[in-house]
Amino acid sequence: MSSNAIQSVLVENRVFPPSEAVQKAARISGMANYQALCAEAENDYEGFWARLARENVVWSKPFTQILDESNAPFYKWFADGELNASANSLDRHMGTPTENKTAIIFEADDGQVTKVTYRELLDRVSQFANGLKARGVKKGDRVLLYMPMTIEGVVAMQACARLGATHSVVFGGFSAKAVQERIVDVGAVAVITANYQMRGGKELPLKAIVDEAIAMGGCESIKNVFVYERTASPYAKEAGRDVPFSELLAGQSTDCPPVPVNAEHPLFVLYTSGSTGKPKGVQHSTGGYMLWARQTMRWSFDVQDSDVFWCTADIGWITGHTYVAYGPLAAGATQIVFEGVPTYPNAGRFWQMIERHKCTIFYTAPTAIRSLIKASEADAAVHPNASDLSSLRILGSVGEPINPEAWMWYYKHVGQERCPIVDTFWQTENGGHMITPLPGATPLVPGSCTLPLPGITAAIVDEAGHDLPNGAGGMLVVKRPWPSMIRNIWGDPERFKKSYFPEELGGKTYLAGDGAVRSEDRGYFRITGRIDDVLNVSGHRMGTMEIESALVAKTDLVAEAAVVGRPDDLTGEAICAFVVLKRPVPTGDEAKAIAKELRDWVAKEIGPIAKPKDIRFGENLPKTRSGKIMRRLLRSLAKGETITQDTSTLENPAILDQLANTN
Ligand code: WTA
Repeated sequence: MSSNAIQSVLVENRVFPPSEAVQKAARISGMANYQALCAEAENDYEGFWARLARENVVWSKPFTQILDESNAPFYKWFADGELNASANSLDRHMGTPTENKTAIIFEADDGQVTKVTYRELLDRVSQFANGLKARGVKKGDRVLLYMPMTIEGVVAMQACARLGATHSVVFGGFSAKAVQERIVDVGAVAVITANYQMRGGKELPLKAIVDEAIAMGGCESIKNVFVYERTASPYAKEAGRDVPFSELLAGQSTDCPPVPVNAEHPLFVLYTSGSTGKPKGVQHSTGGYMLWARQTMRWSFDVQDSDVFWCTADIGWITGHTYVAYGPLAAGATQIVFEGVPTYPNAGRFWQMIERHKCTIFYTAPTAIRSLIKASEADAAVHPNASDLSSLRILGSVGEPINPEAWMWYYKHVGQERCPIVDTFWQTENGGHMITPLPGATPLVPGSCTLPLPGITAAIVDEAGHDLPNGAGGMLVVKRPWPSMIRNIWGDPERFKKSYFPEELGGKTYLAGDGAVRSEDRGYFRITGRIDDVLNVSGHRMGTMEIESALVAKTDLVAEAAVVGRPDDLTGEAICAFVVLKRPVPTGDEAKAIAKELRDWVAKEIGPIAKPKDIRFGENLPKTRSGKIMRRLLRSLAKGETITQDTSTLENPAILDQLANTN
């Protein structure tokens, strides 16, 4: 967030209480009801969560234990209970009116619409699960998904869950190298992918990238690659290993009993960036996760039977797990799944789709909103006013801080000053919403995620773990374990403890990695951004060290690299790389050509989303005499600020001028 944006957040004094109509319609109506739930959690923490676990989850074997803290911070919830996540998403609705309700309205990139009911979805998931079972996939196995945003993507995730196989979805924009690293780390037995994906009218390869990943080596655990033939275009097939969906499903029954798993069984592992090292495999449970996926659908979005819910996140991210693949289904909602991009065939696509499908709850990211504001300023035809948005009743925001200007535009032009905006703060590690307004209760303040959900013990502390008063900025923590929290970093329990439960805070307090401040008047939380070396570019998390490692891996060219973030009006943050080459500092066209080569290299190493926006070359990097890179100085340079810091400890102050030039 830019310092200007922070400034305007801090002086924000506009308040938007829920209207009478919204309050009346909502499940949790008015602040007193919210406070009553908070009080219930405070008075009997375990009893509160046990009640929600019974209300939200269908248990094949009821739990008798609630929270087990004996091996903290490796907390267990409902540890003797058994369930199946797919049964909790689909089977639970059979024999109820939801059985024949539309579960998914799928709109393809080219606009073609397909609808499936809950019954049809259960049949498809069961048939798919039977296909996987016939190929040897079983409970406890890990399966990697590299899929487009399609019904098939959701079906594949649900089918894994049905068998008790742990899925690990990799976003379709990541590189072959990223896929290979995740296959190796998670020890996947199979990959589920598509021949191609369609995005913005273009056909982009997925299967070829999986082939490239496996060819990199270390992927001996992979027995099969299952291929959804999304397009008619041919692709390379390896006999014996590669199986098209048509073959996988041929002759398989649509009846597949869900495999009960323990509440703590890993439903999925999802990789995300941290401040150090390679991306970490965030391991989630089944019981606690499903509880929160459904409960937050009901609280934060107030989802009702008549709603048409649309979360625009890709299934490759946590938001697409909780609010596409599991939450809406567990809640019995009708949801829209969209394959394409918001700007194709024009930047009015979201608004046109809301009108077409009578969407009532719309959940997207600030980056998307900011880019659509820009587009609609340039072309009235793609402005939200050009579509009928009267079906909308609730809006949501997720992934990064929303600046008050974007909030106001979203509120006015999309929500027509009628729809509350739930600015939901949470992380991959949290499983579901943590701090968010409730649409029928919480008075909204632009740019603030307001208050923690009942049962979530969020707080702001200083480095020593002491609570800070309202108005004082500090570190965001969660004091007590909650059911949908991360259970482990796959295969790295030491890193899990160190990253999230640092000794300095007593070893039992969850450290979010974000800075936050509570407002003086209402105690509302405002997230001020990451306090570690994690960047948030267009709502995508990226570690500066990951990008640095990618750059220095170009050994013929790069001697040293340092990466920092700088504020960007459109993407929130932008990646700025400072690079020392193994050759003289280039200028002009040569510098531009090398910068392009490095960007393409990073895209190949990690994925296009990690491409540095700015690349700056210098003879060396600003370091102290003891050799430490002065990152604060680099951040100032990235912002284009004049350097006012003390540079007397610098080895070579002259390089600051060199590093001020962007390529
Ligand atoms: C940021 C996405 C401000 C934050 C669900 C967090 C937010 C990181 C918000 C997690 C929000 C997410 N307001 N910041 N409403 N939501 N963030 O793991 O920095 O992809 O730590 O999970 O995004 O990103 P992740």
